[in-house]
Amino acid sequence: MMTGMSRRDALKLLAAGGAAATTTVNAESAEFVENTYSLRAQRGLRSTVEDRERRMQWWHDARFGMFIHWGSYSVLGRHEWAMENEAIPIAEYEQLAKQFTPKPNAAREFARLARRAGQKYVVMTTKHHEGFCLFDTKTTSYCAPKQGPGRDLVREYVDAVRAEGLRVGFYYSLMDWHHPDGAICARDEAARKRFVEYIHTHVRELMTNYGKVDILWYDVAWPLDAKGWESERMNEMVFSLQPDIIVNNRDKLDGDFSTPEQQITAAAQGRAWESCMTLNGSWGYQAADDDWKTPKQVIRNLMSCSRDGGNYLLNIGPRGDGSVPEESVRIFETVGAWMERNGATIYASEPCQPRRSAYAMFTRKGSTLYMHIHAWPGESAVVTGMVTPVKSARLFASGQTVRFKQEKLRLVVTGLPKQAPDRPLTTIAIECDGEPKQDNILVRNEHARRTV
Ligand code: GLC
Repeated sequence: MMTGMSRRDALKLLAAGGAAATTTVNAESAEFVENTYSLRAQRGLRSTVEDRERRMQWWHDARFGMFIHWGSYSVLGRHEWAMENEAIPIAEYEQLAKQFTPKPNAAREFARLARRAGQKYVVMTTKHHEGFCLFDTKTTSYCAPKQGPGRDLVREYVDAVRAEGLRVGFYYSLMDWHHPDGAICARDEAARKRFVEYIHTHVRELMTNYGKVDILWYDVAWPLDAKGWESERMNEMVFSLQPDIIVNNRDKLDGDFSTPEQQITAAAQGRAWESCMTLNGSWGYQAADDDWKTPKQVIRNLMSCSRDGGNYLLNIGPRGDGSVPEESVRIFETVGAWMERNGATIYASEPCQPRRSAYAMFTRKGSTLYMHIHAWPGESAVVTGMVTPVKSARLFASGQTVRFKQEKLRLVVTGLPKQAPDRPLTTIAIECDGEPKQDNILVRNEHARRTV
């Protein structure tokens, strides 16, 4: 498709493809298209907008995934940054890998929990900054089969996640505190070459030895830039081995999606994004961290992501023995029970314009607006500035029709029960005549005019 065509023409064509994209994958920004174009077209690979749309459709529909931080730091239980934060000498830290003896197939529990929580994909650390590989590798003996676990934990993970019908993601930290070249690679070219070869070999092993992999989730590129990591070459290898994979942006290239961390911020127009978040304040197991989010907060975060066209990747930090902290299980199960009844308002949802309410959040599919009430107001509930004509309304989980009246400045849903019928949130499905829109200035303008 690219042969005999100028780069400018090719870009135009790509932009046209983007404009024709469905609402779940918006038109790409010119710059993003250009970067990706130069990466893949230069290498003669299949391009870009249409291919990305194809690769990412399932991910956009999925909306909700599980992040797992698990490594030898889980034995210590003092956060995944303990090695650096506490300046633990390498020889001392290496002992943890020997004490890391998880029960067989611990990942089954993770995968079952993800499915019960309503999550559609899982991303697990295959190597975190500590440098310990959870997978079998020919590059080092500092890996699960040759240390405490005595087996390939990534293999068990892949099998467990597939068995639950979920998509498989690999987190992989480029930064490595254990490898002798991990820091000096920034100032010593021979070290950089050795280290990049080491890292690329890991990525190749991960992309070769585990069947189909759905997501590659790079992390922390310190101390090199994209040129230093040879990220383009690395991604080219990834796509040649896994043509359907999607790749994030933490190898200092744009990749397929952005990764806002511990915050929910939609990426610039047209850019796919996923907000990753801890359930307490730590990614890796930290025994004393009791700063848990409530199930309601988790669901509301998921809604914020869905409303703005993004995904939510929510973390668990299993212990070294492979058990999941009870509090995490409890929260995930409560979220899952709610998702079982109401998940259809989240999966495959589309960006939603209405957002104004003191007691509700909104998601949307086509011309249906879902009003998710988190602070039940009583027998009536209002959507202010609702300008799209409404045809009907019902409680989503029970299907029970509810009455409403639509006035110029507001939609009032009436005859609701005194107490919230569903917890932690109750969802009302509001069928509209067209895409639901809320006018945020209408009320202020109209009221002001009357007082003049
Ligand atoms: C940060 C942290 C890391 C965690 C990651 C998840 O980069 O260094 O510990 O794995 O965020 O996004």
